Amino acid sequence: MHSTLTPSSFTPSAHAPTRARAMAFERWAQPSQAYAAHLQESLDLLKTVAKDLSPLKQASSLGAEDVVITHMIESLGLNLPVFVLETGALHHQTLALLERTQARSKLPIEVHRPQAQEVLHFLRTKGQGAIYQSPEDRKACCDVRKLKPLGQALKGQRAWITGLRREQSSARSEVGLLDEAERSSKGLTKVNPLVNWTWGDVWHYIEVHQVDYNPLHDEFYPSIGCAPCTRAISMGEEFRAGRWWWEDENAKECGLHVSKS
Ligand code: ADX
Ligand code: SF4
Repeated sequence: MHSTLTPSSFTPSAHAPTRARAMAFERWAQPSQAYAAHLQESLDLLKTVAKDLSPLKQASSLGAEDVVITHMIESLGLNLPVFVLETGALHHQTLALLERTQARSKLPIEVHRPQAQEVLHFLRTKGQGAIYQSPEDRKACCDVRKLKPLGQALKGQRAWITGLRREQSSARSEVGLLDEAERSSKGLTKVNPLVNWTWGDVWHYIEVHQVDYNPLHDEFYPSIGCAPCTRAISMGEEFRAGRWWWEDENAKECGLHVSKS
């Protein structure tokens, strides 16, 4: 079952201080009953893969799930690199969080950018608005800005760690802790430590550990990608409703997490 953020999800908790606008953790930090087990499962998995699947890196969009994973890697004392695909179209809030993370973290924080010439070629030949007009052009933009830099980031790696959760969408409802499906295409294992976490678990962790997060989450952006392709959601809308909102539900992936089948 993927999550729909119901009106009650937007009601500040009873403990929230009175202020005009609730912070994301005041709104969402409600651990599931299995929170402790989910946490232990993730920590155990990270320790195991750091030992058994090296070399590996964490892919971070700097969204809520990813800042949690980076914090867990740090707290376990694992020296795993973290990479961010800086598409050239991220929100200024995301870029500011990237800078703060680079300044604060002892982990190697890698930033992978698209080839400037390829971005310019896309813009010259297709135009800035092309991504809204045809799914093919939108995917071509994702290819230049995300997938090619992802290929660079993952060169020579045996595995990568992502923040996928089953709850996020029906397309992700069967994702496993260890996903071997990509072995055939990328030759890599995908490690998903948060597959079983609820959105409330994620925010509970952020609140308890005072993890720095993207302030766009305070503005009703549960899922954050590039600025032109992400909007805030309204009450009752699904978790990923603000991503590529003009496209069909089935097309709402950029290719980072689409298996060959
Ligand atoms: S997407 O495919 O729709 O863009 P989503 O935003 O849900 O993915 O993020 C899922 C996971 O993909 C994140 O937890 C992170 O591991 C990885 N990811 C997404 N965007 C980026 C990015 N810009 N840089 C690095 N990793 C990313
Ligand atoms: Fe381009 Fe939007 Fe894909 Fe970002 S999410 S790479 S701006 S189409």
